[in-house]
Amino acid sequence: MTRTKISVIGAGNVGASLAQFLVNRDLGDVSLFDVIEGVPEGKALDLYEGTPHWGVDSRISGFTTKSPEVYKNLEGSEVIVVTAGLARKPGMSRDDLLNKNIEIIRDVAKSVGKYAPKAKVIVVTNPADIMAYAFYKMSGLKPENILGLGGALDSARFRTFLAMELGVSVKDVNGFVIGGHGDDMVPFIRYSSAGGIPIEKLLSREKIDEIVKRTRFGGGEIVNFLKTGSAYYAPGISITSMAESIIKDKKRIIPCAAFISGKHAEHYGISGKFIGVPVKIGTEGAEHIYDIDFQPAELELWKKTVESVNSSCALVDKFLSTH
Ligand code: APR
Repeated sequence: MTRTKISVIGAGNVGASLAQFLVNRDLGDVSLFDVIEGVPEGKALDLYEGTPHWGVDSRISGFTTKSPEVYKNLEGSEVIVVTAGLARKPGMSRDDLLNKNIEIIRDVAKSVGKYAPKAKVIVVTNPADIMAYAFYKMSGLKPENILGLGGALDSARFRTFLAMELGVSVKDVNGFVIGGHGDDMVPFIRYSSAGGIPIEKLLSREKIDEIVKRTRFGGGEIVNFLKTGSAYYAPGISITSMAESIIKDKKRIIPCAAFISGKHAEHYGISGKFIGVPVKIGTEGAEHIYDIDFQPAELELWKKTVESVNSSCALVDKFLSTH
């Protein structure tokens, strides 16, 4: 029996929190990579030194990515999570940020393609659905081996807000959010329930609308509190669920950005791109995509999110044609 290896590229807030959750759940050995000298080594050792209290046998290592060869340490990874990226700085347009992060993703994607072409990859760097597309184009990995964070986090927020409002256990609240991981995501009310009871029977239209709105701006709400930086606990926990479903072949249905092609492309009206849909996640990555039927109002929202994903992917294509 070989040991499971999970690599996390980008040891910032999301990457380091994720490492904690992975180790706490005893999911495998964890390698942290970051461009800032000493940070991945320091965080890895610090976390390792706490493991006797948890009684877990994860080996945790850190690697400063001084040169592309350092990524040789990705070899044998079953799961690789990409959180490396820049946050938007004042004066930077969304397109500037996109171009900067595509450059980072390019270096990472090439290294993953070279050293761990069979790994399952979870792209977290924002905009995650677009970065998943960029990663796919530049890594050479099979598209079903690539997933983007989005729906897993947005759905967790949605379920939390519903549970808070109803005063019930989060465990009993079901619901999911699909579409792009942006302001035009689509929280699905019709399929949301608490203890199997449809949400529409439990909450007023106004309350539901409020919760949908809060979900859409859930990321922004945290940024407003933190002032510097964005959310990392809920992202870390959501990524852990996705990684666990891959490692343990749990076949959980988790909404996340997956590659849309074939009959799903016809159904969803988008092709060859990544967008948030319900996905069965197992050892083979995105093992099945579920086609959700839309009602007219939902279809309008869906078309809007498709349009925005398509136009951002066009920027990736432009970058690729000039670099
Ligand atoms: N190679 C490796 N690491 C890199 C590179 C690179 N080329 N470029 C940046 N990094 C590292 C940074 O040094 C930093 O430690 O990525 C890390 C990003 O961490 P934070 O700035 O703390 O950002 P975080 O909050 O973790 O978010 C990471 O996830 O949710 C998304 O929008 C978020 O795109 C962002 C990403």
